[in-house]
Amino acid sequence: MVGHRIQRTEDDIIKEAMHEMPYGIYVIGTAADGRANGMIADWVMQVSFSPRMVVVAFERDSSSLGRIRAHGYFTVNLLNQEGNGMALAAKFVQPSNPAKVQGRAGTPAAPVDKLAGIDTHPSERAPGCPILDDALAFLECQSERIEEVGDHVLVFGRVLYGEVQHSGEPLTSTYTGWSYSG
Ligand SMILES: Cc1cc2nc3c(=O)[nH]c(=O)nc-3n(C[C@H](O)[C@H](O)[C@H](O)COP(=O)(O)O)c2cc1C
Repeated sequence: MVGHRIQRTEDDIIKEAMHEMPYGIYVIGTAADGRANGMIADWVMQVSFSPRMVVVAFERDSSSLGRIRAHGYFTVNLLNQEGNGMALAAKFVQPSNPAKVQGRAGTPAAPVDKLAGIDTHPSERAPGCPILDDALAFLECQSERIEEVGDHVLVFGRVLYGEVQHSGEPLTSTYTGWSYSG
């Protein structure tokens, strides 16, 4: 029997290197037209000390991006490794639009309410955007600038307020082993 060696492409090699980049695991809270949503994201970083700014990279068709465009605010909830952090993260591993799940056949179901059964309270400074009661820390942000970059859309948010809510270690991609990179 002749064995076949699978040839790795240069793209496979680059992807592998990019998979090594560590990320925090966040839930981005948005609200518009009376509907709130939580979206798991790891492409989040601080980009300025003064004023304090963060950037989040969104998929072009994410419903959260639509709510930020409409409403101008969002929250960033950093999940906790301790307690129910991992179980909480698992509840957000789906788009709110089920039609986005690759391979799902048939008529798309109704939008999923990822916040159902999760303890949250609405932000005042980022009006209505959900703050997860069990998040290690949260930020309340106002969208200042939106830039399309490659296949994602960057939302630059001014940090209006932020607070540590619990002790613990932040949940990271190294801990979950989940990959959104490459
Ligand atoms: C571990 C993980 C990390 C993710 N990171 C991002 C991200 O940084 N940006 C993004 O737009 N989507 C990210 N996604 C996909 C979103 O959570 C989501 O499925 C999609 O963007 C649409 O969500 P929405 O319609 O609820 O806004 C990630 C998914 C997983 C499982």
